[in-house]
This record gives sequence, C-alpha cells and structure tokens, in this order.
Amino acid sequence: MTGGGRGGCVIALCQNEKSKDEVIKRWKDENLWVLDLNLHKITARAHANIALVKYWGKQDEKNVIPYNSSLSLTLDHLYTDTTIETANKDEFILNGIKQEEAESEKVFKFIDRFRELSERKNKIRISSFNNFPTAAGLASSASGFAALATAANRYFNINLPRKELSVITRFGSGSATRSLFGGFVVWQKGEIPYAFEYDSADWDIAMIVVMISKEVKKVSSKEAMRRTVDSSPYYPAWVESAQSDIESIKRAIKRHDFVTVGEITERSALRMHASMMAAKPPVLYWQPDTIKVLQQVESLRSEGFECYATMDAGPNVKILTRKSQVQTIFEKMSKEINKDNMIICLPGEGATIIDEN
Ligand code: ADP
Ligand code: DP6
Repeated sequence: MTGGGRGGCVIALCQNEKSKDEVIKRWKDENLWVLDLNLHKITARAHANIALVKYWGKQDEKNVIPYNSSLSLTLDHLYTDTTIETANKDEFILNGIKQEEAESEKVFKFIDRFRELSERKNKIRISSFNNFPTAAGLASSASGFAALATAANRYFNINLPRKELSVITRFGSGSATRSLFGGFVVWQKGEIPYAFEYDSADWDIAMIVVMISKEVKKVSSKEAMRRTVDSSPYYPAWVESAQSDIESIKRAIKRHDFVTVGEITERSALRMHASMMAAKPPVLYWQPDTIKVLQQVESLRSEGFECYATMDAGPNVKILTRKSQVQTIFEKMSKEINKDNMIICLPGEGATIIDEN
C-alpha cells in the first residue's frame, strides 16, 4: 500500500494472469479505479508457408475476402520470432531497425483489432526477426503476421483457438492465416474465410527454397494482385482453375499421390504468373535465373527425380520434392546454384508461444 493523494493506493503483485484478472474484476466490482500495469513480455514463432495452390486476388479488399481458396505447406526452416512487451509508446522494430510511420501504421492498425477485443489498451513495443530475407517473395508477410497475431492473442489475453485467430489474422495478410498451422493448410474462401490444417504432411515431402534475389521486390504482392484482378483478361480463368485445382490437390494429398500434388503445384504457380503478366501494367517478377531453375527442375524430372517448381510474388523458386530425394536434388542443383542460396526445408509446425514472462 502507498499513502498516495486520493485516499491511498494498493499495488498487487499477482502470480499469474488468472489471479490478476480476478483481482481486477473484484476491485472494479467495488467501483475502484484500477490500472493494469501489464508488465509482461510474450514471444511467438511462426513459420513461413508456401502455397501449392496460390491465393491470388481479393473479391473485397477492405474485408480481405479471397476469390479462391488456397492450400500451402508450412516450412520448418523459415520463421519469424515476434516479441510484444509493454511500453510507453507504440513502436515496431523489424530485424533490429525501428520502422517508419507507414510500416508501423500497418502493424498497429492490425494490433488495434486485438486491443478492441481486450480490456487492455496499453502501448506496446513489437520486436520482430525474420530468419530469411524480408519482402523478397519468401512469404515474410505470412510468418510475420502469423507470429504477430499469435503473440497479440496471448498478450491481450484473448486466447482464441487458431481457427478463430485465422479469421482476424487475414487482416494482416491473407497468406498469414495459413502460417498459424503446420503441415498442409487450407485457407477456405467464404464470407468469413478461415484456415485449418488439412494434413500433417507427415510423409515423404520436402522443399528446397532457391534464393535468386534477396532484394525487396518493387511491386508488393498486395499491389500485384490488385492490378491482376482489375485489369488482367486472364483473371476469371485463374479463379476457375484455382477452384478445381484445390479440389484435386486435396484428394491427391489424402491418397499421398505426390505426382499429382506436384503437377498441380507447378501449374498453379505458372497460371498465377501468367495472369499477372497479362495485367495492365504487367507484373513480371521473373529473372533469368528463375527460368534457369525452372528448366533444371524439368530436366531433373525427365531423369526420373520427383520434383516440381513453384514461385510466389518474386523471382525465387521453391522446389517441392521427396524427403528421400531432397539431398540428391540439392547436390544436383548446386552445379548451377550456390549452395548458400538454397535452403532445404521439411514440413514445419504451426505458430506457438516460445517465451513468456
Ligand atoms: P513477402 O514475399 O516476403 O511476403 P510481401 O510484399 O508480401 O513480401 O510482404 C512484405 C511485408 O510484410 C513487409 O513489407 C511488412 O509489411 C510485412 N512483414 C514482413 N515481415 C514482418 C514481420 N516480421 N512482422 C510484421 N510484418 C512483417
Ligand atoms: C503469391 O498474403 O502477401 O504468396 O493478403 O494482400 O497481404 P495480402 O497478400 P499476401 O499474398 C500472397 C500471395 C502469394 C500466394 C500465396 O501465398 O498464396
């Protein structure tokens, strides 16, 4: 207790969140003025995911409603760690650099959705680290917003289950909904889109990420998909084919039919890129090395290896292959691509809290 001006003040140190919430409730019931000092710090980790059937285009941009459902594989070696802690002012630090107004605004608009659902309204510092290049077509927005949503869900004491959390996570980034889960994950389109784990991917699956450029892309995926929806004559064909690809890939995954999964994966990426290349103005992420890697994958396939390529909004290529063949394919690829620019990944887990105090 202190003897502060307005009749004194009690400071309660609580052992856990549950007792703290109970103390606050009882004091508020007594019409006391209560300030939650909220001195805690939460760190969450989320892994990147690579879509096999891509999400490309929003029906309703404000409400982040996708035109088509998508399906991805969560990767173990690419991840984001995000810490939220109590602070005097809102601050966003990404990879050790304090972010400017525009970047912070995007993140805190997202955080406000959690504040609205919570009793807690205090300011926070967000410190986030991506262990791979940011905004280069390697899905940093996916792991970034999934880690942020997971940390905020706990920090603001909302504790939604992952499926319900995915409903909010989409406002950070559509693909982030899928990084909440491990294995093969579907982001289901609809009035209220949500994500769920479709298959644990606990079978002979692996992916090699081939980094062709680590530079920040000139056109963000948000802008590229907006342009495609608005002006590409191929967009309606994209939506139609994505819908049928989703149904076919789901069936193929359930029967562990790798060849069909691979064929759908490769054509989904190529059709997505075809649709954006036909936009006005066109979006072309490919670089000469992108084509070189695509051709290498094709030639490895003709030698009998099971491998298929996919690409996101950027020049980098990801190779879907078998865990049992991944090392051999990595060695073969290294004849053309520096080993330091390739990462072997296996299916990864869903987002989790890794530290709390
Ligand atoms: P990428 O291909 O890497 O997903 P995008 O252009 O789709 O590239 O998204 C990059 C954007 O995602 C960044 O500009 C930033 O707004 C956001 N982002 C990336 N990493 C994080 C992070 N760790 N925490 C919050 N937001 C992030
Ligand atoms: C090519 O999820 O980054 O990676 O919802 O506008 O943030 P916003 O888009 P984002 O787009 C991902 C596009 C993609 C395909 C995919 O991951 O499904």
